[in-house]
Amino acid sequence: MLILGIESSCDETAAALLEDGHTILSSVVASQIAVHIPYGGVVPELASREHVDNICMVVDACFQEASAKGRPVSWQNVDAIAATRGPGLIGALMVGLTYAKSAAFALRIPFLAVNHLQGHIASVFLEHPNAPLPALSLVVSGGHTSLYSLLEPSHPQELARTTDDAAGEALDKLAKFLRLGYPGGPVIERLARHGDPKAIRFPLPKFTDQGFHFSFSGIKSSAVRHAQTHTVLPPDPGDLEQPERLSAELLNLLASYQSRIIDQLLNGIERGLSGREVASIHVSGGVSCNNELRRRAAEHFSSMGIPVYFPRPGLTTDNAAMIAAAAYLRAKAGESDPWDISADPNLRP
Ligand code: KG4
Ligand code: ZN
Repeated sequence: MLILGIESSCDETAAALLEDGHTILSSVVASQIAVHIPYGGVVPELASREHVDNICMVVDACFQEASAKGRPVSWQNVDAIAATRGPGLIGALMVGLTYAKSAAFALRIPFLAVNHLQGHIASVFLEHPNAPLPALSLVVSGGHTSLYSLLEPSHPQELARTTDDAAGEALDKLAKFLRLGYPGGPVIERLARHGDPKAIRFPLPKFTDQGFHFSFSGIKSSAVRHAQTHTVLPPDPGDLEQPERLSAELLNLLASYQSRIIDQLLNGIERGLSGREVASIHVSGGVSCNNELRRRAAEHFSSMGIPVYFPRPGLTTDNAAMIAAAAYLRAKAGESDPWDISADPNLRP
């Protein structure tokens, strides 16, 4: 079964062709990062316009990339089309969803609307189809930080979510404050390697209710306050490629900040383990690209005998292969969605 996946929930226009749920024939991602850099974050109206400009080109490139690898692949070979329904930016979602529905309607093939978070969850199975269940699955990105219990891949049950900022958002916001560029996660990861992660002990959030959550806005405010009170100034943009020219105060702040965010993610997973049989831990979403998070998660949970699985780095940030992979789980059971299904910016799994 060949599925064309489309993703347009935020600032990437993406298309992918996925065969039988796990062979990626092609995966094309047109990033809008350059458009949003001057604003230090995604501007929704600009994102929608970019998706409109890029979607046809991205899908064409997807067929070309697949065909260049072997047999020619065209629209006639596609068995089903899937697109992200939500959560995300409403205008951005509507572009991909409407494009995908129109194409599926014209071709008289099934259409599947996919939850973006289930796409991230499915990205782990693209790489590790035999990752054992039951699992705990952490989706940690710029828009989301949620922990799920996974008894089967297509039915995640949310155990905890952030009460305020997502982990990636906290990285992006401190980077914006310190004028390090957008997105903040990769630049903080690179610079944090040159700082001392124990230099500053940022507080971890305390929750008074019974539920367990994540929260990143407190640590973000502490880091901003620390920068202000210790006069940690935004660096010269030219020095960002030469960490030896940056102040130890800045590098220590970034290393400590990243490390404390990772502490909280690991603590959250650990709380999810309590009283639950868990055969593997999965971590996906843009922040799961972070090598320090990968190293520490693998070290921490392997000491408890639980393997940790990540998607390959290229599938951590938003892509359409994960959307097609999530759709495959339903398409192979003969499921599809009605033509009048609409985008839902607040969709929950
Ligand atoms: O999954 P994604 O592309 O979009 C959302 O669904 O939100 O994630 C983007 C987020 C951004 O906040 C970005 O700063 C973060 O992922 N990110 C990273 C790294 N690469 C991307 N965070 C930490 N380390 C990285 N290497
Ligand atoms: Zn995402």
